[in-house]
Formats: sequence, structure tokens, C-alpha cells
Amino acid sequence: MSSKRRVIIASNRLPVHITEEEGKLVLHRSLGGLATALGSVIQMYPMLWIGWPGVKKDLTQRQLRDLSFPDTLVPIAISARLLKRYYDRLANGTLWPLMHGIMPTRLSQEADWDATFEVTKRFSDAIKQHATSDDVVWVHDYHLVLLPKMLRDEEIKNRMGFFLHTPFPPAKTLLKWKHFHRMLESLSQVDVLGFQTERDVKNFRECLSEAGIRMRRGAVVQAFPIGIDYKAYHAAVSVPQVGMYLRKLKKTVTGKKVILSVSRLDYTKGIIEQLWAVEKVLEQYGPGKVVYKLVVAPSRETVDEYRKLKADIDETVEAINKRFKKRYGIAPIEFAYRSHGFEELNAWYRTADVLLVTPKIDGMNLVVKEYIAARDDERGAIVLSNTIGAAFQLTDAILVDPTDINAISEGLSYALKMPALERIRRWRLLRKNVRREDVFWWTKQFLHELYGKPPRATK
Ligand code: F6P
Repeated sequence: MSSKRRVIIASNRLPVHITEEEGKLVLHRSLGGLATALGSVIQMYPMLWIGWPGVKKDLTQRQLRDLSFPDTLVPIAISARLLKRYYDRLANGTLWPLMHGIMPTRLSQEADWDATFEVTKRFSDAIKQHATSDDVVWVHDYHLVLLPKMLRDEEIKNRMGFFLHTPFPPAKTLLKWKHFHRMLESLSQVDVLGFQTERDVKNFRECLSEAGIRMRRGAVVQAFPIGIDYKAYHAAVSVPQVGMYLRKLKKTVTGKKVILSVSRLDYTKGIIEQLWAVEKVLEQYGPGKVVYKLVVAPSRETVDEYRKLKADIDETVEAINKRFKKRYGIAPIEFAYRSHGFEELNAWYRTADVLLVTPKIDGMNLVVKEYIAARDDERGAIVLSNTIGAAFQLTDAILVDPTDINAISEGLSYALKMPALERIRRWRLLRKNVRREDVFWWTKQFLHELYGKPPRATK
């Protein structure tokens, strides 16, 4: 593999985003699975990354210079009008539920597709402008699913890869959707198509065969389970701010068991079911002995379903807290609706006795891997949904059906009481996997295929 060939990454979000604060532009690091994971590998390979910087207007070269915007990143401007149709309606209102095996309830309109073609064209133009014939192109996630075909139609001959961070739905769901051929025809144009798990690969192959579409000649279709930067999470104990958060936390939770849950606001994450399951466990333990910290990072609040879910979570948390308060004088759920930065989250990971990860479906779920990497005392325990990507690798967690409230609460009770030796045994196996199959391993695996194998030696 030549490490000299440049990788052109295209993803909806860049690893940085810009906000406007009191009329001034400010540059931040992006949070979120894709941006964080890929952000770690940016130092490994010569890369150019094309994506949306989070503002709804064009930025001038001067503004970018003033922000010290990295020259390895190419910002794609997306106006509020386009964003509404491309991001809210088509990507997150239609494709997101579909990829998770849920038929979208609202039909996409032609105008949503037009906006998506327009945004995709901006990515395609930027790639055409910047790529040399030697570069490889790596497209990420469902937002840009039309990009491979558009690039091929524009005669872009570079080796091209696509990695899907979400699950891929079964044929019985996808083929019911009117526009399935747009997605499959585009994905069939790449040289390397990566999914999180073997289940996704199988679903994709079934869809392709039922639709009568064939992959490009010589294409690789394979599972590449994404990892995290293990060392960064593991070594964070020596970061002073992590230490500060840890000391503060220890003071408030001493003598109590801590159950932690961290997710983005999303109806796929099973937050409501989890709340009811935890209520049962709180009932058994008595609320003063257990702290349940529920962190939900705000997300996609411009989409109706997300606003509704937020209201449902608020209502459920309030109902449970009110009931316990009345009976025991304690409100046991500590609900934080805000993104937690790396340091604060790392301190929570190091404090929690049990991490509860119960999405109904999820591409991978990197929170569970972060928890494993961060906890170095082998005392953690994990209750994990048996339907998410991470469950294919982390089989030594306590696996539960995320739609079964009793199963979640039984798993949680077991995790809280788990004998120390079993905890350690399970922990070592979990850690081995997360350490070995980290984000650098993942990148190398994918790029090894994308760069293409060197030609066989001729005698
Ligand atoms: O594939 C899912 C994903 O792209 C994650 O990588 C990321 O955490 C999340 O969705 C981000 O969502 P959004 O870009 O809508 O904030």
C-alpha cells in the first residue's frame, strides 16, 4: 500500500464546525461519531476533507483565513433553504429511518430530491476541482448516497469507496421504498463498499440481487466495524480537566452505584424503554443507593420526530422522578440534555459502575467503546442491546433485547451485582477487542482495499 496517495474524504459534516456568536464567527471541533472517529486518522494519511462546516452561508477566503480554517478541509456552503430539504427532510426525515429498518412516515417530495441533487453536485464539483488522478475518494454515510453515481456520470475514474455508518435495511423494507434504485445504483458504482457488520452486508447483497443490480467489476463489499482512538480515551486520566471532573463526581456519588447512559437525541436509541427499565431497578434498590445519569445530546431538533421525542423524554423523566420524590423524598434520575465534552464524559465513564446502551438499532455505537477504553480499573460492566453493531464484536457484555423492558432491567440488576471475578474476566475480553480493532485499524483495513492491491509480480 502506498501511503503517498491522497485520500479525498467527503462527508456531510467536517471535523470542525463554525458558529456565529454575537456577529463573530467561531471555529469548534465537531462532536459525533463520524467526525470524532475520522478526525483521529487525519494525521495518518495525506487527506483532503470536503464537508459542511455547520453555517448556513458562504464564507469568504478572508473569513476562512481569519478563523485559521485548516487548509486540508474544504467547506461546502449549504443555505438554510437547501438544508431544510436535503438534511431535515430527505437525509434525516426519509433516509435515516429507512436505513434503520423503519418505513418513513412522510413521503419525500421532488423538491427534497432536487435540493439533495444540488448539494451532492457541490460535493461532486469540489472533488472534481481538487482531486488528481492518483487520489482515492472515500465517501461517508447516507447523506451522500447519490454522490458515487454522480461522480461516475461526471467521468471521475478514481478509485472510490463508500462507508455506511448506519445499519443497512433488509430487502423487505428497502424495496418497498419507491426510490430504492437511486440508492442501490449509486452504491453499486464504488470499488469498496463498507458496512459496520456482516448483517448489513447480507442485507445489502439481498437488496442488490432482488433489484437485479450488479456491483462494478472487481468491487469489494465487506464489513469494516469502526473503532475509536483507544489510547486517547485510555490515557485521558492524566488530563488535568478529567482529574478535576473526577474529583467532583466522586464527592457526589460515594457509596452509591452509578448507572450511566449517553446518547444523541434519537428515536432509534430506545431512551423511553430504558427509562422504564431503570425505574424497575430503582424500585428494587431504593433510589438513594443508585444514581442514574442520563445524558442526551441535542440533535436534529429541526425535525418534528426529534422534538416530539424530547417532549416524551421530559415527560417520562418527570413522571418517574415525581413518583419517587413523593414516596422517598429523592428524585433519582439525573437528566442532562446537553453535549458533554471529552473530559467531562471521560470522568463519567471512569465513575460509572454500569453503562447502559440500549438502542433498538444502531450502526455501531461508539459510546460503549469509549467507556471500555476509558475505564482502566476493570470494574465496569455493560448492558448492551443485542441488535446494534457493537453487539457483533462485544459479545462479553450482558446482551439484552432492547424492546423488552423486563430483559433490560434484569440485565441491569445482574450487572450491578456481578461477582468481581466475572466482571474482570468479561472486561479483559471486551478491552482486548476495543484496543485491537481501534479507529486506526479500521482506517487501515478500509484504505488497504481502497488503494487497491499492488499488481501481482510477474515472473
Ligand atoms: O451515521 C450516524 C451519524 O453520522 C454519526 O456518525 C453521528 O454521530 C451522527 O449521525 C450525527 O448526526 P448529525 O450530523 O445529524 O448531527
